[in-house]
Amino acid sequence: LRNEEISSLLRGIPAAFVDKVENILRPLDLTDERYRQVMDLMRQNLDAGLHPDTHATANVKCFPTYVRSVPDGSENGDFLALDLGGTNFRVLLINLNGQEVTMESKIYIIPQHIMLGSGDQLFDHIADCIFKFMCDHQLHDRRLPLGFTFSFPCRQEGLDRAILTTWTKGFKCAGVEGNDIVELLHAAIDRRGDMKNVRCLAVINDTVGALMSCAHSARNCAVGLILGTGTNACYIEDLHNVKTWDGDYNEPKQVLINTEWGAFGNDGCLDFILTDFDKSIDKHSINPGKQIYEKMISGMYMGEIARLAIERLRKHNLLFEGEGSYHLSTRGRFYTKYVSEIEGDDVDNFTVTKQIFEELELSTHTEQDCRLVRHVCSLVSKRAAYLASAGIACLLNKMGRRDTTVGVDGSLYRFHPFFHDLMMEKITQLLKPNLKFKLMLSHDGSGKGAALVAAVAARLRKEAED
Ligand code: GLC
Repeated sequence: LRNEEISSLLRGIPAAFVDKVENILRPLDLTDERYRQVMDLMRQNLDAGLHPDTHATANVKCFPTYVRSVPDGSENGDFLALDLGGTNFRVLLINLNGQEVTMESKIYIIPQHIMLGSGDQLFDHIADCIFKFMCDHQLHDRRLPLGFTFSFPCRQEGLDRAILTTWTKGFKCAGVEGNDIVELLHAAIDRRGDMKNVRCLAVINDTVGALMSCAHSARNCAVGLILGTGTNACYIEDLHNVKTWDGDYNEPKQVLINTEWGAFGNDGCLDFILTDFDKSIDKHSINPGKQIYEKMISGMYMGEIARLAIERLRKHNLLFEGEGSYHLSTRGRFYTKYVSEIEGDDVDNFTVTKQIFEELELSTHTEQDCRLVRHVCSLVSKRAAYLASAGIACLLNKMGRRDTTVGVDGSLYRFHPFFHDLMMEKITQLLKPNLKFKLMLSHDGSGKGAALVAAVAARLRKEAED
């Protein structure tokens, strides 16, 4: 159906013109064969990450998380949670009571100069935000377990020890890579001297949060997926497959693996599908050569891929009669939310699309321009959804469970009108025939997940003390 819709966007446009357009856009349109190759490569990369002989040089690190079981509904009490990793920083107060979860949260902006400043500045800022939050909620005399959703690649040495290997997305704070972020957080709290009660018991990745929060109601949830500013997935792996595991072998004999699949392709193995647009994005990013798969999929980059393709068409006089604008030629100015809005627009009047053109100060535009820009957006988002599907199908095939729920969170998945449908279609096609799956939207996984893991950590700590 969607393929028909895409071609109907081009209906009525002269064939010679469509040919020129297609010539420019063809590299974005990958065949099934390509997606299957991506799936096979992902499998090789996962295996390399899980094995001690290849782990050091592997791109997809497959970090064991020390989270060994999903919640069983017995978790209860009040918890603090921190959520850092997307565009905002959040502090949350969460009450768990069996299946019931209530939470209050506040968003604090992390200004760009802090995202690119020093680690001490970042953690001082975080500590200040926690302090404000505790004042607002009169929490200073309480000793609440704290869980930290820190959505960057970390080598974990325990639930409460997470060493940042490398910044991703828009962050690059000096002096954090190679350090334990719990130590850095506690040091900042100690520098203030007025929050001695706040101690972090667990660090989790946002993918783990998505998995945990869905598992709270869907017991067969075994994969967590983020499609937001960045992309990543985690899954439940049998301990005997985790040759890098250095923890105990008690029941349950499984551990959540944070794949950090965003780094897939860093060794060039995805070069066979990269377009000029992808190469340009990578070149101008703050981490060239890194997070190649993430740059083809996630929300931080999708709008820019579309902008580059639109600009290429425009320069060939195939859009806007060749007339551009300052905005359209500005890097990062075509937001990913435009892709979602344009694809969600009504093709009978293109009201929203035209509004976006106005915002970009594109003065001459016709209905054909609207249709072509929509076509570009569809190609870019379809490729992203299918690439993510290849990753998920690979995990599901590897796990071989008969029926698995995938917990999904992130702004791209949430707000794009067809991302869910595109993924359902592609995963179904790539999956082994006897396997079934569901994609379930995770509600506030980062907050709820951190609280659930902190609850488990608090219980274990108490048992050890008793
Ligand atoms: C980036 C981070 C990863 C996170 C993902 C989604 O890929 O490295 O840890 O899960 O973004 O936020």
